Order: sequence, then C-alpha cells, then structure tokens
Amino acid sequence: MTEVLSFSGVQLRRGDNPILRDINWSVDSAERWVVLGPNGAGKTTLTNLASARMHPTEGTVMVLGETLGHSDTQDLRTRVGLTSAALADRIPDDETVRDVVMTAAYGVTGRWREEYEHIDESRADDLLAAFGMSDFAERAFWTLSEGERKRVQIGRALMTDPELLILDEPAAGLDLAGREELLAALAELAGDRRSPAIVMVTHHVEEIPEGFTHALLLREGEVVAAGPLHATITSANLTQAYGMPVALHAHQGRWTARKG
Ligand SMILES: Nc1ncnc2c1ncn2[C@@H]1O[C@H](COP(=O)(O)OP(=O)(O)OP(=O)(O)O)[C@@H](O)[C@H]1O
Ligand SMILES: [Mg+2]
Repeated sequence: MTEVLSFSGVQLRRGDNPILRDINWSVDSAERWVVLGPNGAGKTTLTNLASARMHPTEGTVMVLGETLGHSDTQDLRTRVGLTSAALADRIPDDETVRDVVMTAAYGVTGRWREEYEHIDESRADDLLAAFGMSDFAERAFWTLSEGERKRVQIGRALMTDPELLILDEPAAGLDLAGREELLAALAELAGDRRSPAIVMVTHHVEEIPEGFTHALLLREGEVVAAGPLHATITSANLTQAYGMPVALHAHQGRWTARKG
C-alpha cells in the first residue's frame, strides 16, 4: 500500500479563526474513508487541503507523495478526483452530460478550448454507463435531476483515472431511491481493487456505503476519532462529535443514528 494522504500537525486559520487544528491523518491507497461531523466542523476545508486546493497555515500536508507548497498543485489536481457543490456550480448550464465528464481530462469546465481525442470520448461513455447515465449523454447538464447530476459528477471525477477520489456530500439532495442507487454504485467502486483511495464527506451514517473501511470524525476543526470504521463509528464517538447523545443502530452492514 502507498500513502496517498498524510496530514501532520495541520492547522488552518482564516484571520484569527482556527478552522482546522492539529490534524494528524493518513490515508493509504486501498482505504475508503468516510468523514463525518456537524455543520462547520471543517470537513469541506479538509477536502480542499486533500485535493491541493488550499495550503495549511501550519503543519505538513502530503498529497500523493507531494508536499503542498513545494510542488506544482495544478499537476496534483488532475491526480485527485473531486466532487463538491462548489465545483458543480461552475459547470456551464448548456454543457452536455458527456462533455461534463470528458472535460475533466483537461482539468477544465467548458468545452471551448480543448481538442478531444476519441479515447477520451469512449472513456467518458464507459463512465456514464457505469453510473447508469448512458441515455443522458447528449442532454444538457442543467436539465438533469439532482440525483442524475450527482452520478455524472462522480463520473467526471473518475475521468482522469485519479489516484485519490474525494466526494463532498455526494448524496445531498437525493431522494431515498436516488440515495440507495448512489450508495450501491459507491459500494461497487469501494469494493473494486482497481479503484483509487476514496474519501467521502457525509452528514449521515445512513450514507456510509458498504465496503468503506475507515472513518474520521471532526468537531470544531479537531479530530474526535479516526481509524477503522467499526471501531470509530460508535455511539460514544458520535455523541462526542455532535455534542448530544446519539443512539446508533447497525443492521446488515449499514447504520442508522438518532438522538439517544
Ligand atoms: N474562507 C473562509 N473564511 C472564513 N471562514 C471560513 C472560510 N471557509 C470556511 N470558513 C469557516 O470554517 C468553518 C468550517 O467550514 P467548512 O466548510 O469546512 O465546514 P463543513 O464541515 O464542511 O460544514 P458543512 O457540513 O456545513 O458543509 C466554518 O465555520 C466556516 O464558516
Ligand atoms: Mg461542507
């Protein structure tokens, strides 16, 4: 296994505000991590560091063996697949679904600049097929439902064959069927040895796909618990992370949580 992420004594401040404090975290290539924590805990900020979109104020972040601040982050960005609401907002309305996926090959949104090779087109079509979106390839992205958009975005994030895949709330806004379909697709991805390392941010233990191996719990910019999934997703740790009593139930490899 190779280390794809390494955070050591990482702090991130905005003005006087500490947003992340003393984060020590390591992700190996075969691992699939879920990141949980309340609103404002620092999850998205953590993904911005992990995808080389920000630098730490203090400490060291290594992404795919490169230390942030010491290397060309543009190159790193094509090696990390990312989906987030912020990236989705930058997709031009009239871009076709196929182009949304395909343009990732050049780290750009919008088809105005690049010449595409046939091989890119067939890879984009394969990814659309893998996420059940083949019939939508010619549609404008803006005409898709939220669930359809999420699946296209994950296809886009995988287009460059990244060594690390980061998903910030991929199931947000999905209905029950949409969520379950997405979780099934993510479970398949997680179970495939050829898949990259995965870090997925979510608000709900119900959204942890099968096959995920590790969890990181954040509260107010600090790590509450991190490690193998079953040792980390516990009532005690969630109670600490959310600052309220949490009752947790496990059933057939999935969890539910409510106020305890
Ligand atoms: N550029 C910034 N300037 C100042 N404060 C910021 C900035 N970016 C984030 N923050 C603050 O840092 C904290 C963590 O934000 P972040 O978006 O990482 O939280 P999150 O865990 O992803 O929350 P959510 O679950 O709501 O998405 C928040 O209090 C936020 O207001
Ligand atoms: Mg967030």
